[in-house]
Amino acid sequence: MAPIASKKAGNDRISPAHVAKLGDYPSRGGPDKAEILIKTQLGAAYWADSIHLMAETIEPQSLDLIVTSPPFGLVRKKQYGNVDADEYIEWFRPFAKEFKRIMKPQASLVIDIGGAWKPGLPTKSLYHYELLITLCKEFEFHLAQEFFWWNPSRLPTPAEWVNIRRIRVKDAINSIFWLSPTPWPRASNRRVLTPYSNAMHELLANGYKAKLRPSGHDISDKFSRDNGAAIPPNLLAVANTESNSRYLRYCGENKLPPHPARYPATIPEFFIRFLTDPGDIVFDPFAGSCVTGEVAEMLARRWICSEIERVYLEGARGRFEMDPAPKSQGPHEPTVYKIQRPGLLWNGANDHLPLAADGGKKRPVA
Ligand SMILES: C[S@@+](CC[C@H](N)C(=O)[O-])C[C@H]1O[C@@H](n2cnc3c(N)ncnc32)[C@H](O)[C@@H]1O
Repeated sequence: MAPIASKKAGNDRISPAHVAKLGDYPSRGGPDKAEILIKTQLGAAYWADSIHLMAETIEPQSLDLIVTSPPFGLVRKKQYGNVDADEYIEWFRPFAKEFKRIMKPQASLVIDIGGAWKPGLPTKSLYHYELLITLCKEFEFHLAQEFFWWNPSRLPTPAEWVNIRRIRVKDAINSIFWLSPTPWPRASNRRVLTPYSNAMHELLANGYKAKLRPSGHDISDKFSRDNGAAIPPNLLAVANTESNSRYLRYCGENKLPPHPARYPATIPEFFIRFLTDPGDIVFDPFAGSCVTGEVAEMLARRWICSEIERVYLEGARGRFEMDPAPKSQGPHEPTVYKIQRPGLLWNGANDHLPLAADGGKKRPVA
């Protein structure tokens, strides 16, 4: 059986025709045999359980980037097959083992993962931190950096704690862990620069007086050099508000359910640009609607997507069959998101309302 990503492949196209020959494997709720549902010049999307696809067809040390959003360990079972938070680590271990095996030594593993609230309690599960620690301690990945994806359009949830009892604030970020088998993964922040802020433009125009900051940092005059663009922080502000894409139109026209937990194309695009060169191989083992494949194709990277639910790949065909459209944020998306500095309304207006002595355990009467 020919491997999917042979080390000898160089910049050859991926040739996944062999997958139809895969043997049957024990069902984890997916297909008996991997099947290619989407094939392009640069990649392929498989209807498959990724564990089996990786184990049976992907060569050791052959991938440059795994960027993915696995099913989150939500406490309620969702329609796309989430496992319970407590079982999450056990469920993830075989994936971690395969990821480590198939990644090139300087490849990156990028995992977008949301937090989970414990059932019926205003406290959070530690499952994603446990996952991070397991990946680093047990599988010897290095944490290159953690990112935070702030979704400015996130609704104020969980409503019971945030809106009704008023004892927690809006949960609006996902963690994104960037890991690698080495402390030195291939990367260049020059690929993901961002425009200077107004404050920086002013500083460049008016000059900056080099001085020692209260933090002890020596701000030398190097900071007033105009490099043309800014290095982004590890906070990615991206609204998840796709409403009129070719993907959604395709799903509507073909009466297919859009994937309920898609990430915006900007998330995989940031990491594909940052961590790979054209021609490199990108893999998404929890592909859902194949956003990663679509972005990789646009950026001339080779790609493999694998998704266990056939219906989501049926919808994903729309990403490749209809007329191309811009993949990053659309022209009508805001280019700058503002977040208020805490304290603007700290005028003591509600200070006469005492904190609930029971921590909000008793639900307030409406
Ligand atoms: C959070 S969603 C990913 C959504 C995707 N990033 C997108 O934007 O469309 C996770 C996906 O992993 C899939 N999945 C779960 N277990 C899998 C497995 N063993 N092999 C392949 N896919 C799996 C689920 O069906 C679900 O569609």
